[in-house]
Amino acid sequence: MIVVKSSRGGTLKVEGFRVRVVERISLPSVWARLKAIKGAGWNTFLLRSDDVFLDMLTDSGVNAMTDRQLASMITAQDAYAGGRSYYELVEAVRDVFGMDYVLPVHQGRAAEHLLAKVLIKPGMAVITNYHFTTSKAHVELAGGEMIEIPVPEALNTISDYPFKGNIDVGKLEELLSKMKGRVAYVRVEAVANLLGGQPVSMKNIRLVKELCDKYAVPLVLDASMVDWNAYFIKEREPGYASKSLAEIVREMAGYADILYMSARKAPAVRGGLIATNNREFYEKLVVLLPVYEGFPSYGGMSVKELAAMAIGLREMVDESLVGSELELIRYVVEELDRNKIPVVKPPGGLGVHLDALRFLEHLPRSSYPAASLAGALYLVSGVRAMERGTMSMDRAKDGREVYADLELIRIAFPRRTYTKSHAEYLVDRILWLYENRDVIKGLKWVYEPPVLRFFLGRLEDVDRWGDELAQIHVKQLGEY
Ligand code: F0G
Repeated sequence: MIVVKSSRGGTLKVEGFRVRVVERISLPSVWARLKAIKGAGWNTFLLRSDDVFLDMLTDSGVNAMTDRQLASMITAQDAYAGGRSYYELVEAVRDVFGMDYVLPVHQGRAAEHLLAKVLIKPGMAVITNYHFTTSKAHVELAGGEMIEIPVPEALNTISDYPFKGNIDVGKLEELLSKMKGRVAYVRVEAVANLLGGQPVSMKNIRLVKELCDKYAVPLVLDASMVDWNAYFIKEREPGYASKSLAEIVREMAGYADILYMSARKAPAVRGGLIATNNREFYEKLVVLLPVYEGFPSYGGMSVKELAAMAIGLREMVDESLVGSELELIRYVVEELDRNKIPVVKPPGGLGVHLDALRFLEHLPRSSYPAASLAGALYLVSGVRAMERGTMSMDRAKDGREVYADLELIRIAFPRRTYTKSHAEYLVDRILWLYENRDVIKGLKWVYEPPVLRFFLGRLEDVDRWGDELAQIHVKQLGEY
């Protein structure tokens, strides 16, 4: 954003870009939405994109690219080995992160897979601020265990603590001293996805690095959303207001022994990478690339994406291009909070997160309040959000339900994609849904897959509350 002084006091943040290509979207009627959500088994993952008005499922792979990125996809050099686009990527990683060794991979979870293979031996642990679904899966597949030690404020959705993504450094020291030789690495996710897109402070990363050095454990930084984390450090952390995003990202990366990212996020392409200055780690990792991903100069990515990624990495620290979606998220969170809607505070990255436990207080957790809320939001607005609660957890081995720490829905704002009027529409429909929340009676399984059930599971609405909600919608708001 371009920040200027407002003539009426305070500051004004203005997008440092304009839109030259648009995609037409349409708003299906509430009857069409009812049919679609029933057809999708009340699972927003199973909706067809053409039945969705605002697709806020994720920011992954759906960010608006820049003209320079698109142009680079045409001039990208097709080569199996040693292509020019690869060397452009290496240079970008050196400039942006200050790291010399670069391994492209096809997406973030591929990086997690290779890191787990190289760094984790069965019985070892990875200590993290908070897990992400794929990061945890790869640690466990390698025979390891993931230990989460977020600061206590992280799980309190109404706390305004500015860095809820921080690691509890007291607990970290305790664990590192107790588990000598058994910690594969410490993982910092910036911003912390499943905590509601909450950032990590620079001070916290620095302290974590000091402890890692003291106990000779590598620090791995998941930098998938580092653009947003840097924006919040600049805004919220004392001493960083006058630093550039580029300086902030460089400093963050400087504390990491290994950095990896899903390039489907901050650099706005479809790919991933691992970077390090440690030659030993690089050599262990690079031999696995041709086995699992592709030759090291493309790592399973299309060269078009590789070229666009080199540009996207530089653009993710360009002040003009970063932050418009964060300002929209802030607007929605503040509007909802003013109207007493249970929303995760403070406004974070990634999206607006509603607290389904408080939104649907009348529902027992066994009827999946977060999944019910995601389904209901789609029905009343055509907005596709993602369940991030108990349905996103799988059952324990004995079949018991494992209740998630937080029962959220995530309404993602992909980079540079939606506008202020979309945000206003979203607020309007959430307020209406809150007034009519008593109609929502929960969901029950029709088909429950044994693993990662949230992707393909199908449910139905208890007592057909969807029909009732649609009827009230038509009466009060019309068909749209
Ligand atoms: N790390 C973080 C912090 C992520 O948010 C993701 C993906 C990954 C790793 C895995 O990367 O998808 O490229 O394999 N997050 C997506 C989301 C799926 O919707 O938040 P990937």
